[in-house]
Amino acid sequence: MKIKSAEIIISAVKKEQYPSIEVPEVAFAGRSNVGKSSLINLLLNRKKLARTSSSPGKTQTINFYGINEEFRFVDLPGYGYAKVSKAHKEQWGKMMETYLNHRENLLEVFQLVDIRHTPTIQDKQMYEWIKSVGFNGIVIATKLDKIKRGQRQKHIQMIKKELNMTSDDILIPVSAASREGKEEIWKIITEIFEVNGFQFEQKQSL
Ligand code: GTP
Ligand code: MG
Repeated sequence: MKIKSAEIIISAVKKEQYPSIEVPEVAFAGRSNVGKSSLINLLLNRKKLARTSSSPGKTQTINFYGINEEFRFVDLPGYGYAKVSKAHKEQWGKMMETYLNHRENLLEVFQLVDIRHTPTIQDKQMYEWIKSVGFNGIVIATKLDKIKRGQRQKHIQMIKKELNMTSDDILIPVSAASREGKEEIWKIITEIFEVNGFQFEQKQSL
């Protein structure tokens, strides 16, 4: 995918702030610190478009990024970090439910998990939620560079098992550091838009 333009449209907390539904979107969900914002930067070849941080809880709003003026990526607020009040958790839940359950132009939600760790209860709940809303729930296992090559399959199988994934379900390992997995994710994103009847401008002009 050639990235001609990529920009933040809005950091939204309520529905009224969402951009129009005329442009298709895919979203990225996952535990705080799993690497959602880093993945968006990797896919868009931008170092600092989506703000990243080594301390969890950086993205607390729903951040909409416009790409090539054709489609959008949506960086969802992370869950599962310590020191969060009950009120904050409720606010997160309402915000996610408003977006995920009622967004007509949302074509897919990618679930990110850290390839090193056993998925948490919240990861499992999030994945089930994504599927229950009707999305495929494609899993992206981040921080691939943090494990040894020989350990990869073991970790991938563990995650698939813990999330009750079937042989039809897709898991893609990726590293924002080594950039491995990037093309595979783009291939899937492109397919998702195409399956939904969306034609990329670049393709049409070929
Ligand atoms: P929240 O905004 O808090 O929900 O977190 P996030 O999921 O957006 O995570 P973010 O992209 O900010 O990354 C968290 C930390 O993990 C940062 O220090 C990143 O540099 C690091 N990180 C993300 N992806 C990778 C990766 O593939 N490999 C390595 N080694 N570090 C990564
Ligand atoms: Mg973030």
